[in-house]
Amino acid sequence: MKIDGVAWRPIWAEEDGETVGIIDQTRLPFNFETKRLARMDEAAEAISVMRVRGAPLIGVTAAYGLAMALRDDPSDAALGAAYDTLHATRPTAINLRWALDRMRGALLPLPPGERFARAWTLAAQMADEDVEINRRIGEHGLGLLREIADRKGRVNVLTHCNAGWLATVDWGTATSPIYQAHDAGIDVHVWVDETRPRNQGSFLTAWELNGHGVPHSVIVDNAGGHLMQHGEVDLCFVGTDRTTATGDVCNKIGTYLKALAAADNNVPFHVCLPTPTVDWRVRDGVAEIPIENRAPEEVTEIDGVLPDGGDARMRIASPGSDAVNPAFDVTPARLVTGLVTELGIVEASEAGLAKLRAKMEAEAIMLS
Ligand code: MRU
Repeated sequence: MKIDGVAWRPIWAEEDGETVGIIDQTRLPFNFETKRLARMDEAAEAISVMRVRGAPLIGVTAAYGLAMALRDDPSDAALGAAYDTLHATRPTAINLRWALDRMRGALLPLPPGERFARAWTLAAQMADEDVEINRRIGEHGLGLLREIADRKGRVNVLTHCNAGWLATVDWGTATSPIYQAHDAGIDVHVWVDETRPRNQGSFLTAWELNGHGVPHSVIVDNAGGHLMQHGEVDLCFVGTDRTTATGDVCNKIGTYLKALAAADNNVPFHVCLPTPTVDWRVRDGVAEIPIENRAPEEVTEIDGVLPDGGDARMRIASPGSDAVNPAFDVTPARLVTGLVTELGIVEASEAGLAKLRAKMEAEAIMLS
């Protein structure tokens, strides 16, 4: 997507052919800064402190990280150590394991001297594939928005967290149908959940939508149910970090509550996902998906900007109070209207996922 008329991706291969550049998302929306990642440990740090975040982007960053490790040492031992380090950066998004497994599977059989070149090419290929996957997710989701627009004019979409182009390599997952609808002249307006504690909604989604000129309003996380009761939400689009073989959806904390409110108000609740986000080994999302617990300071403190433009971090919880910070939750399949994938829209159920799996096998897409 474009920033001030210039096309950007949140990650790119530098011209030296051995390092990558990223948009440092910890600095948005008040500062736009890029950062060069020159070693595997820098890629791992960027993932764990969330300079890059969002399931698909985490996977691609890890792929480049593994490539950089092999540039420095192409041995089996170095490959294994880099895999373990990168895999440990964040526990919930399955795209991380998927990307690392794909890299390891392609590289281990090669002689060490050929590994870096192949790793670099494969990481770049995975980045380009992600762009195409998200474009196709958008095409399928666009039909849902068009149907509402034909019926009632303006379409109000609610989204949670940032599942936008910053969370992927381009287009985003949940935002791809929105961008495509906007570009097609559909009158689409987005309710942007703030998404405490890291504010991916008010910081990142809002920044993206501003950049593309999509009408939107930031709301506090508790406002969605009220808006749905008053007919102000036509449809929800969210992303996911891991979806099970039975259709349970793990996504940013607060997604489950939004799905409950949507079900109570008959608002369609769609999840947009690339097929690598399905974890075929998991059936019961609540019981089996590891939920990342992040630092309590993310809850008790907040980042912002002062009137003079300076960075600010301040405490917002009562002094002395502790906090708990689970970063994701699981929405049971029964609350999900549909899964919008690059291979089409399927029901969030074991049967729907089985159909998706058959399509993936027909297209030789690697299963997570
Ligand atoms: O903690 P984050 O910012 O990495 O969480 C991101 C999300 O939960 C996204 O909604 C999800 O990764 C889908 S991204 C296309």
